[in-house]
Amino acid sequence: MKLTIDDVRSRFIKHFNGTTGTVYTAPGRINLIGEHTDYNGGFVFPGAVEQGIIAEIKPNGTRMIRAYSIDLKDYYEFSLDDDKGPRASHFRYIFGVAKEMIKLGVKVEGFDAAFAGDVPQGSGMSSSAALESCFAYALNDLFGGNIDLMTLAKVGLNTEHEYLGIKCGIMDQFASLHGKKNNLMRLDCRSGEFQYFPWLAKDYKLVLVNSCVKHTLVGSPYNDRRNSCENVVNAIKSFKPEAESLRDCTEEDLENVADKVSETDFKRAKFVLGEINRVLAVSDALEKEDYETVGEKMYETHDGLSKDYEVSCEELDFLVDIARDCGVSGSRIMGGGFGGCTINLVQKDLYRNFIDKVKEQYNAKFNTECKIIDVVIGDGARKLSD
Ligand code: GLA
Repeated sequence: MKLTIDDVRSRFIKHFNGTTGTVYTAPGRINLIGEHTDYNGGFVFPGAVEQGIIAEIKPNGTRMIRAYSIDLKDYYEFSLDDDKGPRASHFRYIFGVAKEMIKLGVKVEGFDAAFAGDVPQGSGMSSSAALESCFAYALNDLFGGNIDLMTLAKVGLNTEHEYLGIKCGIMDQFASLHGKKNNLMRLDCRSGEFQYFPWLAKDYKLVLVNSCVKHTLVGSPYNDRRNSCENVVNAIKSFKPEAESLRDCTEEDLENVADKVSETDFKRAKFVLGEINRVLAVSDALEKEDYETVGEKMYETHDGLSKDYEVSCEELDFLVDIARDCGVSGSRIMGGGFGGCTINLVQKDLYRNFIDKVKEQYNAKFNTECKIIDVVIGDGARKLSD
């Protein structure tokens, strides 16, 4: 069931003595193509979804943040002057965001907050970026910051890096803050330039299949992937000092360092170079409304993520194989990998058959259910009510 303002407001009133605050929301995201390219200065192609975080927030005139997580039924208070902050993760995101906003000069004061979300956690739909973006947007609004959306996205990014230890890229926070109904966005992660692409595919549906294998990027091999890419760039720098990321490197540069980097690092970098080009090919195909080419590129991405980048798992590979068997136009792992969802581009007349088959066969093989999520491309972070 879709989360509503009332779900949050009723809890806020209960926990904070009958008062009310201002309500904000920020969404999770999908990504059509362009995986593990963001921290390599490449292109990504995300869009916001209708699932997200809703938070009600009210300044309380102290230096304390008093936060209630409706989903976890958990309450925590901590001071803005505390250096370490809470360890518990939901609250740690809020702490990180508040601290990063203060670093930017926003006069953040204490506040009461109640929040809930309907982005399935560990699904690769960026529930954590939704939380960060919601609070960054809200604190900017409530405490008179005048910070642009891209800088707010970096607040979330720094929170991941500095407070959670995940060296992610900018895609998730960018998408959560810049999303626009019925539009995907192509972001150049090196320059920060982006363009909206209206989603016009009338004969197709975008559908996520959640393997329900929970991915967690905390302490995960995610950072190892990033290190591999950086190792390769460092090797290439020996003859091309201006290269700052894989975006600045060519296949030929990579071949030149083949005997200087490990086989694993080489394969990973090769995937990233291919993936950056695939995003551009998909942009062209979308402009021509050639969705079959979009789908082919999605399958190519999956193969690369599975074999070269090694961020798939048995369940996700199986979901993509079923999609292929059902004639689905495109299917691949979405997000960081290691579990979570596949994203599928499905011709409308194949949709029913695909959904039935995928549910039945997944259950038969793994003795557990996968979950179907029809994508509705929604708006980015915003205020819902005063
Ligand atoms: C996670 C990260 C993103 C991005 C994707 C992979 O979602 O948070 O920055 O790297 O993985 O594309």
